[in-house]
Amino acid sequence: MTILLLGSGGREHALAWKMLQSAKCQQLFVAPGNAGTSQIATNVILNPLDFIAVKDFVLQNNVDMVVVGPEDPLVHGIYDFFKNDGQINHIPVIGPSKIGAQLEGSKEFAKEFLVKHNIPTARYESFTKVTVEAGCEFLTTLEAPYVLKADGLAAGKGVLILNDLAEAQQELRNMLVDAKFGAASSKVVIEEFLDGIELSCFVLTDGKSYKILPTAKDYKRIGEGDTGLNTGGMGAVSPVPFADAVLMEKIETRIVKPTVEGLQKDNIEYKGFVFIGLINVKGEPMVIEYNVRMGDPETEVVMPRIKSDLVELFEAVGQQKLEDAVLEIDERSATTIIIASGGYPEDYEKGKVISGIETIEDSIVFHAGTKEDNGNIVTNGGRVLAITSYGNDFQEAIKKSYQNIDKLHFDKMYFRKDIGRDLL
Ligand code: AMP
Ligand code: GLY
Repeated sequence: MTILLLGSGGREHALAWKMLQSAKCQQLFVAPGNAGTSQIATNVILNPLDFIAVKDFVLQNNVDMVVVGPEDPLVHGIYDFFKNDGQINHIPVIGPSKIGAQLEGSKEFAKEFLVKHNIPTARYESFTKVTVEAGCEFLTTLEAPYVLKADGLAAGKGVLILNDLAEAQQELRNMLVDAKFGAASSKVVIEEFLDGIELSCFVLTDGKSYKILPTAKDYKRIGEGDTGLNTGGMGAVSPVPFADAVLMEKIETRIVKPTVEGLQKDNIEYKGFVFIGLINVKGEPMVIEYNVRMGDPETEVVMPRIKSDLVELFEAVGQQKLEDAVLEIDERSATTIIIASGGYPEDYEKGKVISGIETIEDSIVFHAGTKEDNGNIVTNGGRVLAITSYGNDFQEAIKKSYQNIDKLHFDKMYFRKDIGRDLL
């Protein structure tokens, strides 16, 4: 098969790495990819949001399957674009339909779906510019901390958690009236704060049945001890040690099953990943968010733990035969540590030469923000590399990653030294 993978991050390098282990994957294109994907596949200069260009490429190169890494093309309807075009509607797109992608594209849509299908989540109400005063009033009925969520996509920055009521009311006005997050905050969901430890559950579904992929926990803040600004994620561990059989059973029966059944009941076509952000509140799992793609850096620990052929699983998803497929999981732990550019998630410099990658032993280097420049690999983003290792437990895996990171260097390189420490 010839496969086109859309995206350019560590997630895409990990997806590419996994798909290339399949005998079915004869040719893999990654658009636009990074310096890591170019070493194992063929990068193509193509904007994943330019669907006409994607179609032309697919036809010219006899692509048999399109796998979508990030949420943007999904929220913009790439699945429906293929489905509605007679020239390409036979080519499976791994990802949900446009309406399915609203589970990530609109916090309000996701909350309505959760409530409608009786899936445990925080109590909420949503507000617009017209109802901003009612929103300020609603805040007074909640206890601190206050959780404000811009309805639309805001590159992971649209959620504010504030301790002070007056500040929360002011921020609500900033979001709704002053468009703090642009159109994304023309609607705001205010919800009850859930106190617990977070984990993520990944599901692959064909819209009828599903497979639960390995769980993972990521580290969102830039600073050690979970301090400082939010990032895309600074490290990840899989499996999540506290996700025991009892918790997983609750997650499956109360959350995963009703989610897939809900999609069916609502006639939402969905052939792709569901990434369910959960919070474990005293042993009771509650949903904080849906994403309609894999997580980054979670993919860099989830893919290495899947033993089954991912391309076969994707084929089964495309044909809605996932029920018959087998998912085998590696018992070992996998962990990843993100190497970032100093300054991230605020301003940072690019173009720094990375050295030491070839000296890494017994870890997998997934590239995120990298590119090739005159024979060098240079930094090209905030998150630069993800160093993934296996171990009999997560401590062993983390130790390997840190030992290897000592051999890496670039100017202003930064990484968190405490990944996994909270799980000890
Ligand atoms: P989201 O984009 O919805 O995942 O929110 C970003 C982060 O905000 C989550 O990963 C949580 O750490 C936190 N968060 C979101 N909603 C809540 C909530 N209701 N209670 C506590 N923390 C939350
Ligand atoms: N690491 C969180 C995400 O991919 O959304």
